[in-house]
Amino acid sequence: MRYKDESVAKANGVVYTPTQLAQYLSARMLVYWDSSSIPNLRILDPAIGDGELVLALLNELSKNEAIYAVDIVAFEIDKAAIEKTEARICSAFPYVSVEIINEDFISYAANNSAALGKFDLIIANPPYIRTQIIGPEKARKLANDFGVTGRIDMYYAFLLLATKFVSDGGVVGFITSNKFMSIKSGESIRSYLKEHVQVLQITDFGDTKLFNAAVLPCTIIYTLGTTQDKEVKYTSIYETHDVDPELRRCSVFDAIDIDGVVLLDDGKRFSVRQGVLANCRDGAPWVLTSPSISSWKNKVSQETWRLFSNIGKIKVGVKTTADKVFIKPDWSKEGDKPELLYPLITHRNAGQIVPNDTSKWGIVYPHTSKNGKHVAVDISMYPNTEKYLEKHRDQLEARKYVIEAGRNWYEIWVPQNPAAWEDRKIVFRDITETPQFWLDNSGAIVNGDCYWIDIYDTTTDDEVYLALAIANSHFIEKYYDLFFNTKLYAGKRRFMSQYVSQFPIPYPESPLSIHAIELVKAIIQLQDQGKETSAIKAELDDVVEEIFC
Ligand SMILES: C[S@@+](CC[C@H](N)C(=O)[O-])C[C@H]1O[C@@H](n2cnc3c(N)ncnc32)[C@H](O)[C@@H]1O
Repeated sequence: MRYKDESVAKANGVVYTPTQLAQYLSARMLVYWDSSSIPNLRILDPAIGDGELVLALLNELSKNEAIYAVDIVAFEIDKAAIEKTEARICSAFPYVSVEIINEDFISYAANNSAALGKFDLIIANPPYIRTQIIGPEKARKLANDFGVTGRIDMYYAFLLLATKFVSDGGVVGFITSNKFMSIKSGESIRSYLKEHVQVLQITDFGDTKLFNAAVLPCTIIYTLGTTQDKEVKYTSIYETHDVDPELRRCSVFDAIDIDGVVLLDDGKRFSVRQGVLANCRDGAPWVLTSPSISSWKNKVSQETWRLFSNIGKIKVGVKTTADKVFIKPDWSKEGDKPELLYPLITHRNAGQIVPNDTSKWGIVYPHTSKNGKHVAVDISMYPNTEKYLEKHRDQLEARKYVIEAGRNWYEIWVPQNPAAWEDRKIVFRDITETPQFWLDNSGAIVNGDCYWIDIYDTTTDDEVYLALAIANSHFIEKYYDLFFNTKLYAGKRRFMSQYVSQFPIPYPESPLSIHAIELVKAIIQLQDQGKETSAIKAELDDVVEEIFC
């Protein structure tokens, strides 16, 4: 990051584009642009920073075109950057005219759209600002102008506004977080773009760590029109466990045109996929598809007997909203032991099939079951617990929402029915790189950093073992990526109800499923005896792979 004041840089979402990425986007944009009838070219960068994108675009244009007149209009809120950027562009391309407006593009564009006119090329890497700080008024205006609903992140605003300023036949190229393609709150921007512009190309750079922003970047190129029924080229590159006998070592930008597995300069393997945007219903996540991916998906659905949602109810763990009071690794120093102290499973116990560590933290849990429902206990019946919680009464009462909801001051915020924990359950970790689903028969409470499956009585033990085999496999990582397309930074995935409920379970009577079930039982037995399980886990992974392909 080339920026003087790091905290201002962070607040303004400043992460300048690396030169190679700027070159990549510029070159791809021009593939879709017909320059023949443009005597006077107009270019817009609504968040120009140090001008890397504009310079790359001018460089690319100067390779092929005889360009006589170019007007650059740009916006930048960082006054200090403007002079330097203007000088940088003018010294490299003396024949262009550059005007950098020292204003917030969103406000300016909303109020002066006619004055700005239309542009042949719009290129942008809008600011990376985690929280929505475009302000409620601006958000409302954008929502009205574009007919979108829900949260409007900063970069959504830039993506939407660019549609107003691009000329017929003009091309827009953006570098943004790839999140809008998969998250729920991206629904309305996805619908808007599909309907109002023709998306030409998407490149999802996934977890290649191309630059410093805490987001996974993608490029999106569009022109005016509509995406409905059009083919959109879609490329993605993500770290993988897959192997390829012809593994090549190369850079991200050499890899991006390959279809297969590559070894990047950081020594990690990445899978590059070439395909098209899947034809999905309005607002659904954008995912890549190709003939090989859709035949893989078809095969998986042929081999699917049921889904995880059919074997049990997926629940989130408890949330106290005062963990320091309710939860501790060791309660022995707390004087009289609270009567309502129970063992607690946290992400520290996480493991595949079996927990990695069976020692548990403890939680004071002032709730019980009555007629199958959870209710708060009468705390006066438990003097040690009452004494302990009274010591922290101020802090607990400061949780105004608990009191306002008509609840007792000593309750935890999201309790669950204690009766449900007593049975067998599958617990799994929420945010993790590799899936971690394990069987628990201890009756312990599950903390909010994990989810758990409250298994139906009708589900047999063998079906539970089979589910554990699938949930912990490399197969499920591929399934997750191809169906949900939503990885967090550092290759982490979110295992939560909406995804896990759709995981497939194969036919339990097939010979391969029976084999997988036997291997899961063997892993549980060996672990009980304190023996090594890694060889059997590897065998199980291969069996699961075979079941679905
Ligand atoms: C992610 S950086 C990209 C800069 C440059 N275009 C590049 O690709 O290297 C975003 C830039 O937008 C500027 N910025 C932040 N909010 C803005 C706004 N509302 N209007 C215009 N520029 C803004 C920041 O100061 C920063 O220079």
